[in-house]
Amino acid sequence: MKILVTGGTGYIGSHVVTELLNQSHEVVIIDSLVNSKVSVLDSIENLTGKKPIFYHENLINFGTIEKIFKDHTFDLVIHFAGLKSVSESVEKPLLYYQQNLAGTINLLRCMQEFKVKKIIFSSSATVYGSGNEGECIETMPTGQGITNPYGKTKYMIEEILKDVCTSDPEFSAVALRYFNPVGNHSSGLLGEEPNGIPNNLMPYIMKVASGELEELSIYGNDYNTPDGTCRRDFIHVVDLANGHLAAFEVLKTPGFKTYNLGTGAPTSVLEMVNTFEKISGKPLPHKFVERRPGDLAEIWANSSKAARELNWHANLTIEDAMKDTLTFLKKHS
Ligand code: UFG
Repeated sequence: MKILVTGGTGYIGSHVVTELLNQSHEVVIIDSLVNSKVSVLDSIENLTGKKPIFYHENLINFGTIEKIFKDHTFDLVIHFAGLKSVSESVEKPLLYYQQNLAGTINLLRCMQEFKVKKIIFSSSATVYGSGNEGECIETMPTGQGITNPYGKTKYMIEEILKDVCTSDPEFSAVALRYFNPVGNHSSGLLGEEPNGIPNNLMPYIMKVASGELEELSIYGNDYNTPDGTCRRDFIHVVDLANGHLAAFEVLKTPGFKTYNLGTGAPTSVLEMVNTFEKISGKPLPHKFVERRPGDLAEIWANSSKAARELNWHANLTIEDAMKDTLTFLKKHS
């Protein structure tokens, strides 16, 4: 198939592009490079022997996106492009609504114009909102109690996709709700390299391990969880990437569908730190501090729908993720 991947040089996008090329699909990437580097394309070529077609463009420029659709005939779109920092979205809501919503609407308008009727969207567990703590299943209500504009854009895009599917009985959309992606390709050639001080746990651990930051602050050890720290469903990004390919089959049936992509089991923040220390053989400086506002005590995926309908489940472990993270750090030090 010829597949358009928006945000294809980003952390998750680059892993998906690699799997797509390995499966002999043809890939066209549109990416603004706001959160990635053009050199990711060389890494993808190193891993697959193939170079995807690349456009350095932003989805908010309708005319240029329309021109790309004119020049290619796509079978399907995988849509990652979007801003993703929870804290930045609170400071700059309009930027997030413009980039994530307007960008998606432009993409969908082009798909409609050129009769491309299949899309996979990178959604998030954040759509379950703050009322749904613990195990989350796709039948739960979404959109209530989402505490930041980033999360709201994920929910709103799911609603837009639902409406597009209602308006066009041939249109097929799959929203994959990611839990917490960690790790990277085992080669260490792809991975997450956030600029500045990271918000998320693994990128922060990586900066402490590399000596760039002094110590990790663990936000709260007084939660009602087995060790007092928060628990999340940390899923290896290569497993997550394969979930996209597993979704191709269900895209053949029109309509809107959602799937959780998680391991189905929670791991605590402290367990993550302990596993990293075990695999690296070195202590990771950390301290316990106040809770971070807006954090849920624990959230993990019920991943039975993806197992049943996509024949997909996570194979890799937290240990694998930590090993691969260390390989990435060695390659990039
Ligand atoms: N944490 C720390 N110290 C840090 C960073 C994080 O203790 O320096 C803790 C957090 O308090 C939380 C856990 O590690 O308990 C995971 O935090 P992340 O920021 O890595 O991830 P979140 O679960 O908060 O958020 C993730 C994604 C969001 C998505 C959300 C949906 O980053 O994009 O899951 O559940 F919206």
